[in-house]
Amino acid sequence: MDKDIFYEAAKKYGTPLYLYDLGEIKRRIKLIEDTLKDLNFKIFFAMKANSNPYLLKFMRSYGIGADAVSLNEYKIARFAGFSPSEIVVNGNGKSIEDISFYANEKPMCVNVDSYEEIKKIGDLPMRIALRINPNVDPKTHPHISTGLKENKFGMDFETAKKVIRSLPHNLRLVGLHCHIGSQITETDPFIEAFSSLKSFAKEEKLDLEFVNVGGGWGIDYMDKNDGINLNRYKDGILPILSSFDLPIYFELGRFIVGSSGYLLTKVTEVKRTPHKNFVIVDASMADLIRPALYDAHHEIEFLSGKSEMIADVAGRICESGDVFAHEIKINVPEIGEVGLIHDTGAYGYSMSSNYNLSTRPSEVAFDGDKFILIRKRENFEDLLRLIEEE
Ligand code: LLP
Repeated sequence: MDKDIFYEAAKKYGTPLYLYDLGEIKRRIKLIEDTLKDLNFKIFFAMKANSNPYLLKFMRSYGIGADAVSLNEYKIARFAGFSPSEIVVNGNGKSIEDISFYANEKPMCVNVDSYEEIKKIGDLPMRIALRINPNVDPKTHPHISTGLKENKFGMDFETAKKVIRSLPHNLRLVGLHCHIGSQITETDPFIEAFSSLKSFAKEEKLDLEFVNVGGGWGIDYMDKNDGINLNRYKDGILPILSSFDLPIYFELGRFIVGSSGYLLTKVTEVKRTPHKNFVIVDASMADLIRPALYDAHHEIEFLSGKSEMIADVAGRICESGDVFAHEIKINVPEIGEVGLIHDTGAYGYSMSSNYNLSTRPSEVAFDGDKFILIRKRENFEDLLRLIEEE
């Protein structure tokens, strides 16, 4: 996008600000469709990556369903216009209240995480899929790997067999589910996981409606290419998925929205110490926690500036970990200069917090022509809203 667009957005809506390029979301959806075109598939967008209702509606207009991981995500999906039959429910540790809510709502499917969850469902009627934990290393950050036996998610094959053998009549087993982790850029872990899922389905002679292979497609945070190698995905993984001879469901989050988002921020201080330089900005780990939490890399640029300098780009939160990038080469910015933190469309706003009583930023979509304010900035009154006066 053109520099002027960023300046204009920052001027019009203030900073920090999440700006989403709708054209990029559209391009990503097309990339996925082209990659999977020989497969009978459906995408459910993993709302945990970004649950802004406007963006959800936008994706729904391209035939995408929703993957909800909590009651509130489910309700926001309904608010954004998804019918229960367009929603898949995930999550470990569902409460009895959650379960009865879903039993009434009748979503497309509830992915059951454990043997214990079956007991909790009791005699409530439900369409379910079993979340399998295939014990495969997705070769990603340990915090976002979910399909290893030491991870809390899903059930191993033996437990799944036990569940199948003792399935009560009120439960309709419509699918198998497997999500091994996020930000996966290698194809081998998927091959390993889906092959073992295939052997299991065959061995158990299951009569299923679909197989749900989760999400996890990684993007390139260095902004050099699109992320996971889609040609390799086609060559190595599609044959396995086709061999199920069933519709294949995906729960992609990051790959659809990650690269569409920019966190716009402004410089509040350029601080030089005898040891190093810091560029302090008005965004912080309260707006984007990925660098502090996972040591995640996001490209950062200041739109203009004179010569170059090496500096840490840091926020204004009272934590040493509130640093977006360490010792990077940037233009020496003036106070007030606009900075862009790239690839923040996924797990950016959705993981933001009120730490240090920060107010959450606003969210704006750009449709190639005009800006659309899709969530207002929080203000001080919002922070007071839940507090009872004595
Ligand atoms: N399905 C399930 C069951 C999941 O747990 C997740 C992500 C997804 C789908 C979507 O995965 P994706 O396509 O976005 O990789 N906060 C972390 C990512 C946590 C992912 C949690 N589960 C981050 O900022 O990197």
